[in-house]
Amino acid sequence: MVTGDLDEIISIENASFSTPWSQNMFLQELQLKMSRNFVAKIEMNQTKEIAGYMTCWVVAGEMHIQRIATRKDVRRFGIASKLMEEMIRHSTEDGCTLSTLEVGRSNEGAIKFYEKFGFSIQGVRPLYYEERGEDALLMGADLTECKKLICHEP
Ligand SMILES: CC(C)(COP(=O)(O)OP(=O)(O)OC[C@H]1O[C@@H](n2cnc3c(N)ncnc32)[C@H](O)[C@@H]1OP(=O)(O)O)[C@@H](O)C(=O)NCCC(=O)NCCS
Repeated sequence: MVTGDLDEIISIENASFSTPWSQNMFLQELQLKMSRNFVAKIEMNQTKEIAGYMTCWVVAGEMHIQRIATRKDVRRFGIASKLMEEMIRHSTEDGCTLSTLEVGRSNEGAIKFYEKFGFSIQGVRPLYYEERGEDALLMGADLTECKKLICHEP
Protein backbone atom coordinates (compact mmCIF):
# COMPACT_ATOMS: atom_id res chain seq x y z
CA MET A 1 0.00 0.00 0.00
CA VAL A 2 1.28 3.43 -0.96
CA THR A 3 -0.19 6.92 -0.58
CA GLY A 4 -1.40 6.88 -4.19
CA ASP A 5 -3.65 3.89 -3.40
CA LEU A 6 -5.63 5.76 -0.76
CA ASP A 7 -8.45 7.20 -2.92
CA GLU A 8 -9.45 3.71 -4.08
CA ILE A 9 -8.98 2.31 -0.57
CA ILE A 10 -11.21 4.99 0.98
CA SER A 11 -13.94 4.18 -1.52
CA ILE A 12 -13.84 0.47 -0.53
CA GLU A 13 -13.57 1.43 3.15
CA ASN A 14 -16.68 3.67 2.98
CA ALA A 15 -18.67 0.92 1.28
CA SER A 16 -17.50 -1.74 3.77
CA PHE A 17 -17.64 -0.27 7.29
CA SER A 18 -20.23 1.73 9.25
CA THR A 19 -17.41 3.72 10.89
CA PRO A 20 -14.84 3.95 8.13
CA TRP A 21 -11.23 5.01 8.65
CA SER A 22 -10.28 8.38 7.15
CA GLN A 23 -7.47 8.99 4.66
CA ASN A 24 -5.41 10.44 7.54
CA MET A 25 -5.77 7.26 9.55
CA PHE A 26 -4.38 5.23 6.65
CA LEU A 27 -1.59 7.80 6.19
CA GLN A 28 -0.66 7.30 9.85
CA GLU A 29 -0.60 3.53 9.34
CA LEU A 30 1.78 3.95 6.42
CA GLN A 31 4.19 5.84 8.69
CA LEU A 32 3.94 3.49 11.66
CA LYS A 33 6.87 1.10 11.95
CA MET A 34 4.82 -1.77 13.38
CA SER A 35 2.11 -1.44 10.72
CA ARG A 36 2.10 -3.69 7.66
CA ASN A 37 -0.21 -2.67 4.84
CA PHE A 38 -0.98 -4.65 1.69
CA VAL A 39 -3.24 -4.11 -1.32
CA ALA A 40 -4.53 -6.66 -3.82
CA LYS A 41 -4.88 -5.48 -7.41
CA ILE A 42 -6.86 -6.91 -10.29
CA GLU A 43 -6.62 -6.07 -13.97
CA MET A 44 -9.88 -4.61 -15.32
CA ASN A 45 -10.35 -2.81 -18.64
CA GLN A 46 -6.57 -3.01 -19.11
CA THR A 47 -5.89 -1.06 -15.93
CA LYS A 48 -4.92 -2.30 -12.51
CA GLU A 49 -7.50 -1.53 -9.86
CA ILE A 50 -7.40 -2.09 -6.11
CA ALA A 51 -9.70 -4.97 -5.20
CA GLY A 52 -8.88 -5.20 -1.51
CA TYR A 53 -6.49 -4.25 1.28
CA MET A 54 -5.29 -5.43 4.65
CA THR A 55 -3.63 -3.67 7.58
CA CYS A 56 -1.95 -5.41 10.53
CA TRP A 57 0.20 -4.49 13.48
CA VAL A 58 3.15 -6.75 14.08
CA VAL A 59 4.09 -6.46 17.75
CA ALA A 60 5.95 -8.81 20.10
CA GLY A 61 5.44 -11.90 17.95
CA GLU A 62 1.77 -11.16 17.35
CA MET A 63 0.04 -10.21 14.11
CA HIS A 64 -3.00 -8.13 15.05
CA ILE A 65 -5.42 -7.63 12.17
CA GLN A 66 -6.67 -4.04 12.04
CA ARG A 67 -8.48 -3.89 8.71
CA ILE A 68 -9.34 -6.20 5.84
CA ALA A 69 -11.83 -5.45 3.08
CA THR A 70 -12.58 -6.40 -0.51
CA ARG A 71 -14.44 -4.28 -3.07
CA LYS A 72 -18.09 -5.35 -3.06
CA ASP A 73 -18.26 -6.34 -6.73
CA VAL A 74 -15.35 -8.77 -6.42
CA ARG A 75 -16.15 -10.52 -3.12
CA ARG A 76 -16.04 -14.34 -2.89
CA PHE A 77 -13.28 -14.53 -5.51
CA GLY A 78 -10.52 -15.33 -3.02
CA ILE A 79 -9.06 -11.81 -2.84
CA ALA A 80 -9.13 -11.45 0.97
CA SER A 81 -7.73 -14.99 1.20
CA LYS A 82 -4.74 -13.96 -0.93
CA LEU A 83 -4.14 -10.93 1.30
CA MET A 84 -4.39 -13.08 4.42
CA GLU A 85 -2.02 -15.70 3.01
CA GLU A 86 0.60 -13.08 2.15
CA MET A 87 0.24 -11.38 5.52
CA ILE A 88 0.64 -14.70 7.36
CA ARG A 89 3.66 -15.60 5.25
CA HIS A 90 5.44 -12.27 5.91
CA SER A 91 4.52 -12.18 9.60
CA THR A 92 5.72 -15.71 10.30
CA GLU A 93 8.97 -14.90 8.49
CA ASP A 94 9.29 -12.00 10.94
CA GLY A 95 8.80 -14.36 13.88
CA CYS A 96 5.08 -13.97 14.62
CA THR A 97 3.48 -17.06 16.13
CA LEU A 98 0.04 -15.75 17.04
CA SER A 99 -2.65 -13.66 15.36
CA THR A 100 -5.56 -11.83 16.97
CA LEU A 101 -8.41 -9.62 15.81
CA GLU A 102 -11.74 -8.15 16.84
CA VAL A 103 -14.84 -8.69 14.71
CA GLY A 104 -18.44 -7.55 15.17
CA ARG A 105 -20.62 -10.29 16.63
CA SER A 106 -23.09 -9.89 13.73
CA ASN A 107 -20.44 -10.00 10.96
CA GLU A 108 -21.11 -13.63 10.05
CA GLY A 109 -19.32 -13.50 6.69
CA ALA A 110 -16.08 -12.21 8.22
CA ILE A 111 -16.29 -14.73 11.09
CA LYS A 112 -16.63 -17.57 8.54
CA PHE A 113 -13.72 -16.12 6.61
CA TYR A 114 -11.46 -16.07 9.69
CA GLU A 115 -12.56 -19.57 10.75
CA LYS A 116 -11.41 -20.82 7.34
CA PHE A 117 -7.89 -19.74 8.35
CA GLY A 118 -8.06 -21.52 11.71
CA PHE A 119 -9.15 -18.60 13.89
CA SER A 120 -11.45 -19.39 16.81
CA ILE A 121 -13.46 -17.24 19.19
CA GLN A 122 -11.49 -16.63 22.38
CA GLY A 123 -13.50 -13.95 24.14
CA VAL A 124 -15.98 -11.12 23.93
CA ARG A 125 -15.31 -7.40 24.28
CA PRO A 126 -18.69 -5.96 25.37
CA LEU A 127 -19.77 -2.87 23.39
CA TYR A 128 -16.36 -2.61 21.74
CA TYR A 129 -18.12 -0.89 18.82
CA GLU A 130 -19.74 1.74 21.05
CA GLU A 131 -21.16 3.85 18.21
CA ARG A 132 -23.41 1.01 17.02
CA GLY A 133 -23.80 -0.72 20.37
CA GLU A 134 -22.24 -3.97 19.23
CA ASP A 135 -19.95 -6.43 21.03
CA ALA A 136 -16.73 -7.59 19.42
CA LEU A 137 -15.67 -11.20 19.36
CA LEU A 138 -11.98 -11.61 20.06
CA MET A 139 -10.61 -14.23 17.67
CA GLY A 140 -7.17 -15.77 17.69
CA ALA A 141 -5.09 -18.30 15.82
CA ASP A 142 -1.79 -20.11 16.10
CA LEU A 143 0.03 -19.02 12.94
CA THR A 144 1.82 -22.37 12.60
CA GLU A 145 -1.60 -23.99 12.31
CA CYS A 146 -2.78 -21.25 9.89
CA LYS A 147 0.18 -21.95 7.63
CA LYS A 148 -0.82 -25.62 7.42
CA LEU A 149 -4.22 -24.51 6.09
CA ILE A 150 -2.60 -22.49 3.32
CA CYS A 151 -1.82 -25.30 0.96
CA HIS A 152 0.26 -23.64 -1.75
CA GLU A 153 3.53 -21.78 -1.85
CA PRO A 154 3.43 -18.08 -2.97
C1 LIG B 1 -14.85 -10.44 4.94
C2 LIG B 1 -14.30 -10.05 3.55
C3 LIG B 1 -12.98 -9.30 3.74
C4 LIG B 1 -14.07 -11.33 2.72
O1 LIG B 1 -13.48 -10.95 1.48
P1 LIG B 1 -13.55 -11.89 0.18
O2 LIG B 1 -12.52 -11.39 -0.77
O3 LIG B 1 -14.94 -11.97 -0.32
O4 LIG B 1 -13.12 -13.30 0.81
P2 LIG B 1 -12.70 -14.65 0.04
O5 LIG B 1 -13.30 -14.65 -1.33
O6 LIG B 1 -11.23 -14.80 0.14
O7 LIG B 1 -13.45 -15.73 0.95
C5 LIG B 1 -12.80 -16.90 1.38
C6 LIG B 1 -13.79 -17.75 2.15
O8 LIG B 1 -14.23 -17.07 3.33
C7 LIG B 1 -15.61 -17.41 3.58
N1 LIG B 1 -16.45 -16.22 3.37
C8 LIG B 1 -16.07 -15.01 2.88
N2 LIG B 1 -17.12 -14.17 2.87
C9 LIG B 1 -18.18 -14.87 3.34
C10 LIG B 1 -19.56 -14.54 3.54
N3 LIG B 1 -20.06 -13.32 3.27
N4 LIG B 1 -20.37 -15.50 4.04
C11 LIG B 1 -19.92 -16.73 4.34
N5 LIG B 1 -18.61 -17.11 4.16
C12 LIG B 1 -17.76 -16.18 3.66
C13 LIG B 1 -15.95 -18.49 2.56
O9 LIG B 1 -15.56 -19.74 3.13
C14 LIG B 1 -15.04 -18.13 1.40
O10 LIG B 1 -14.77 -19.21 0.55
P3 LIG B 1 -15.84 -19.57 -0.64
O11 LIG B 1 -16.15 -18.30 -1.36
O12 LIG B 1 -15.07 -20.56 -1.47
O13 LIG B 1 -17.04 -20.16 0.06
C15 LIG B 1 -15.34 -9.18 2.76
O14 LIG B 1 -16.62 -9.77 2.83
C16 LIG B 1 -15.44 -7.73 3.23
O15 LIG B 1 -14.72 -6.86 2.74
N6 LIG B 1 -16.36 -7.48 4.19
C17 LIG B 1 -16.58 -6.10 4.69
C18 LIG B 1 -15.44 -5.67 5.58
C19 LIG B 1 -15.33 -6.56 6.80
O16 LIG B 1 -16.31 -6.92 7.43
N7 LIG B 1 -14.06 -6.86 7.16
C20 LIG B 1 -13.76 -7.65 8.32
C21 LIG B 1 -13.78 -6.76 9.52
S1 LIG B 1 -13.32 -7.61 10.99
